[in-house]
Amino acid sequence: MGEEKSKVLIIGGTGYIGKFVVEASAKAGHPTFALGDLYEHESLVKAIKQVDVVISTVGHMQVADQVKIIAAIKEAGNIKRFFPSEFGTDVDRNNAVEPAKSAFEMKVQIRRAVEAEGIPYTYVASNCFAGYFLPTLIQPGATSPPRDKVIILGDGNPKAVFNKEDDIGTYTIRAVDDPRTLNKILYIRPPKNCYSFNELVALWEKKIGKTLDKVYVSEEQILKDIQESPIPINIFLSINHSAFVKGDLTNFEIEPSFGVEASQLYPDVKYTTVEEYLDQFV
Ligand SMILES: NC(=O)c1ccc[n+]([C@@H]2O[C@H](COP(=O)([O-])OP(=O)(O)OC[C@H]3O[C@@H](n4cnc5c(N)ncnc54)[C@H](OP(=O)(O)O)[C@@H]3O)[C@@H](O)[C@H]2O)c1
Repeated sequence: MGEEKSKVLIIGGTGYIGKFVVEASAKAGHPTFALGDLYEHESLVKAIKQVDVVISTVGHMQVADQVKIIAAIKEAGNIKRFFPSEFGTDVDRNNAVEPAKSAFEMKVQIRRAVEAEGIPYTYVASNCFAGYFLPTLIQPGATSPPRDKVIILGDGNPKAVFNKEDDIGTYTIRAVDDPRTLNKILYIRPPKNCYSFNELVALWEKKIGKTLDKVYVSEEQILKDIQESPIPINIFLSINHSAFVKGDLTNFEIEPSFGVEASQLYPDVKYTTVEEYLDQFV
C-alpha cells in the first residue's frame, strides 16, 4: 500500500449512511470531498477528475440513476475505485420477494454496468444498519425495544447481522486503498454481530432481567402482509422477510473468489458489538 491516501469523493455525503462515510474518510486522513449532483454531468466529471476514489451513498430513489456516475467516471478516466450505493444485503445472493426483489435488482443492474465498463469496484455488503433495527428490536411502530411482548418473524432462527453506522463508515474507508478489496464484495459480518431473532430477544431479556411474551409470525402470514401493505411498509416487510426469515445475510459462505470479510481484514478495528449497542436502551 502506498503512503499517499487516496482522495475520496462521496456522492450523497449528506445522507443517512453518507455522513458516517464522510466522517470516517476525513478521520482516516483522506482528502475528502462531498460534492457532486449526479444530474449535472459537466460538474460531476470535473469533481471526479480531482479525486482517486468515488463512493456513492445515494438513497434508494437515486440508485438507478447511478448510471450517470458510471458515465462520468468513464469520461474522467482516472478513478482507481468506485463504490456504488449498496450498504445492505448482497443483491446477487438473496431470496427476496417483491417489492424488495426489484429494489435489489436495481443495484444488481448497477453492478453489471460497473463491471461491463471495466471500472475497478468494491461493493460494500454492510448488512443491517444497527440504528434502523436495534432501537426497536424490529418491532413495527415501536420507538424503543419491547418490555412485555415481542413479535418474532418466522421461526426466529436464521442469523442476521447488525452493524453500527460508524463501523460501516470505518470499514468502507479501510477498503479504499486495499488491494484485497479490489473487485470484491466487502461483507461486514463480524462474528459478534451475527444474531438470530431469537438470540437477539434472549440477549435483550438477559439485559432487562425479564422474559417477554413471544408471538411468532409465520412466513405465510408475512407474505400475505407484504402483499396487503402499502409502500413503503411493504418494502420494509420484504427486506425483513429476506433477512430474518430467509436468512439471506448469512446463508452463504464468503468465497475468496468474490468476497472478503471486513473484521477479518481489519482485526484492529474495534467494532461496537450488538451486546454493547443494546446497553444504551436498558
Ligand atoms: N442496510 C440497511 O439497514 C440500510 C438502511 C437504509 C438504507 N440502506 C442503503 O444505504 C444506501 C444509502 O441510503 P441512505 O438511506 O443513507 O440515503 P439517504 O439518507 O436517503 O441519502 C440520500 C443521499 O443522496 C443524495 N442525493 C439525492 N439526490 C441526489 C442527486 N441528484 N445527486 C447527488 N446526490 C443526491 C442526498 O443529498 P441531499 O441531502 O442533498 O438530498 C443524500 O445525501 C442505499 O443504497 C440504501 O439502500 C441500507
